[in-house]
Amino acid sequence: MVITGAGGFIAGNLALYFKKKGFTRIRAVDKKPLAEWYLRVPGVESICLDCSQEDHCRRICQGASEVYNLAADMGGMGFIERFRVECLRSILINTHMIEAAYQAGARRYFFSSSACAYNILLQQDPHVRALKESDAYPAMAERGYGWEKLMSEIFCQEYWHERGMKTFIARFHNVYGPHGTWDGGREKAPAAICRKVLEAIDTGSGTIQIWGDGRQTRSFMYIEDCVKGIDRIMHCDKLLATPINLGSSELVSINALVDKVERIAGVKLQRVYEPSAPRGVAGRNSDNTFIQQVLKWEPDTPLDKGLAATYRWIKQQYDERKKGKRVVE
Ligand SMILES: NC(=O)c1ccc[n+]([C@@H]2O[C@H](COP(=O)([O-])OP(=O)(O)OC[C@H]3O[C@@H](n4cnc5c(N)ncnc54)[C@H](O)[C@@H]3O)[C@@H](O)[C@H]2O)c1
Repeated sequence: MVITGAGGFIAGNLALYFKKKGFTRIRAVDKKPLAEWYLRVPGVESICLDCSQEDHCRRICQGASEVYNLAADMGGMGFIERFRVECLRSILINTHMIEAAYQAGARRYFFSSSACAYNILLQQDPHVRALKESDAYPAMAERGYGWEKLMSEIFCQEYWHERGMKTFIARFHNVYGPHGTWDGGREKAPAAICRKVLEAIDTGSGTIQIWGDGRQTRSFMYIEDCVKGIDRIMHCDKLLATPINLGSSELVSINALVDKVERIAGVKLQRVYEPSAPRGVAGRNSDNTFIQQVLKWEPDTPLDKGLAATYRWIKQQYDERKKGKRVVE
């Protein structure tokens, strides 16, 4: 099997998951130099190639029976609101990868879409109605990043309908956990909050900066649920070319998320709100009716449990970096 974006958070964890499950022929690909990958899984063929280039994609897909395309130029709200062109250019990745997979005779193709593909007009209130799969249309996706995802979903659907390649599409809602971005501008809320709490403790500042008013709401899926869900979706023929939510339905406000991390760290900080910082939509949650119906399962790791593991990992990275050791942020 081929897994792209494997130097990153989710695909790196996916390679580890399949390796642990006993798969022996896994090819992991990322454009980042190998030294910068979060996870390098022993026994997995790890190569540095660019999935936005057609000839690289042909090499990547050679001999592949299953292709998991998770490569994308992405980050948290701060990144996707600022770099819309980079996000849109990820269209090249899926366009070339899906064609190369088809030419190589791959039997199954997975695409990682996003909740950002949903109509933003349905997400203007923190007390949102959870998003169900049909809410992507009429389309009014998140500028840049969301439109790229929506268009790539359509590619996947037509490769099945017109050319008969089995494609699978999951719309991920915020994913968090160890071995992900935690500093540098691409990190998402849970990792950013863990890091900010650690910084406040370390510097003794006693304060934490929060983007927006802290009342915006989200749900967060733990990485172990995410990789399990990808496997289940990819191998369920009822879901052929059918976008499906893969996310937690445990809705929290950003303020409540900070409460949780403070509790884990054993501190209480003064909150400084930054109303002009990127904040994304007011509220977003995953309606899991469809996934429960089809897979008899939904992501179910409690946020408190997943956050504790994530905080521990980020603390370890933070401490190592302070000691002068090289860590991937
Ligand atoms: N993390 C989330 O909360 C979330 C939510 C919704 C959707 N997604 C989607 O899931 C996928 C994985 O996300 P992630 O959180 O692991 O992000 P990530 O940034 O940690 O990993 C993405 C990886 O893709 C690589 N990449 C980018 N362009 C490439 C190219 N041209 N060729 C090869 N590799 C390339 C990057 O170097 C990076 O290592 C992405 O498609 C993302 O859009 C993630």
